Amino acid sequence: MAAIAAAAGTPCYIYDAGAIRAAYMTLDRAFDAYPHAIHYALKANSSLAVVRLLQSLGSHADANSLGEVDVAMRCGFRPDQIVFTGVGKSAAEIDRAVSLGLLAINVESPGELDRIDQRAVAQNVKTRVALRVNPDIDAKSHPHISTGLKSNKFGVPIGEAPALFREMSSRRGLLPVGAHVHIGSQITTLDPLQKAAQAVVALAQALRGEGIALQHLDMGGGLGISYDGAPVVDPAEYVRALVAATKGSHLKVAIEPGRVLVGPAGVLLTKVVDVKQFPGAKRFVVVDAGMTELMRPALYNAYHRIEPLVRREAPESIVDIVGPICESTDAYARDRAFPHVEVDDLLVVYDVGAYGAAMGHTYLRRPLPPEVMIDGDQWKVIRRRQTLDELLALETE
Ligand code: LLP
Repeated sequence: MAAIAAAAGTPCYIYDAGAIRAAYMTLDRAFDAYPHAIHYALKANSSLAVVRLLQSLGSHADANSLGEVDVAMRCGFRPDQIVFTGVGKSAAEIDRAVSLGLLAINVESPGELDRIDQRAVAQNVKTRVALRVNPDIDAKSHPHISTGLKSNKFGVPIGEAPALFREMSSRRGLLPVGAHVHIGSQITTLDPLQKAAQAVVALAQALRGEGIALQHLDMGGGLGISYDGAPVVDPAEYVRALVAATKGSHLKVAIEPGRVLVGPAGVLLTKVVDVKQFPGAKRFVVVDAGMTELMRPALYNAYHRIEPLVRREAPESIVDIVGPICESTDAYARDRAFPHVEVDDLLVVYDVGAYGAAMGHTYLRRPLPPEVMIDGDQWKVIRRRQTLDELLALETE
């Protein structure tokens, strides 16, 4: 890593292709022979090389914007391998999604059902749709990333689903092929995921009784990873629970994992730029990465393990590890016992492969950092550092 830091500079994201492959294979194998598709949620990390790697493993794709649909196709996914979700799809997004013939557009509301139908009729096609249901299940995750309660903006109440499926079946432009549920992210217990799966299976069975035969059940993403060593759901156990819930229906299971595939495969390398001690108060380790590179601590108070790349022989102290941004929320860790570090030491921030680079931004005119992919004993830069000129290229004086 020191060689990468020297070549690519800091801050810098580093991903391990082997870890992504292993995480994908764990999920895929756990399905055994049950019909399934793993739709990688591009939102977790849509860097081209990461998406391409997952495509090469046989993954399908979950896109949340037209940009992600286009990235997926650029990386080799066929339109019929892509599901398109999004709580506020624009007219342009609907129009293009319909014209591409995606595996399913996940419908979020009665109004959207209508708009998709209109665009499909105008294009003289029948568009495959799935209905995103909101089962009112508490994912017991961080409130900012819970999506399955009726107080959340996502999907339609599950009680209204049968009537909306009937409505979709009656529309000239729509072909209802699936039911979709996604109750949140960083879910660390099996129970809510299992309950959500059982709810959509029950819905599909009821629909079948009415003569509406679905093709797939999309159970969403959401499986959590252990950022701090606390126990989480074993991914294979999660898959087996989904299959157990679904197999009576004989329907194909789709899942949309993001974090569990790429989260643990990424680290952020950052350099100490200052260490300062307020007398009788805090000790701050200031690093060259901040909320611009990694938003999660500032946004969700998220915990990430951090370690010096090379440990010095000196006692630990309690420190805040903070970034260089002019906001007090710009801290990666507060009051954490940490080994002694000095200016220019390299630190490794763990488990940032998901929602790290993907949520990066350029506040303070900070160019986006590079990303590196390690594969075995080889590594390559998969995104070079943005230059200030590139950052300003859209502007006129
Ligand atoms: N499918 C849908 C419809 C989603 O909204 C999401 C995530 C996923 C799949 C993938 O979920 P995963 O398997 O990665 O949990 N920025 C937050 C996470 C936001 C997740 C949004 N939706 C974070 O850094 O924790």
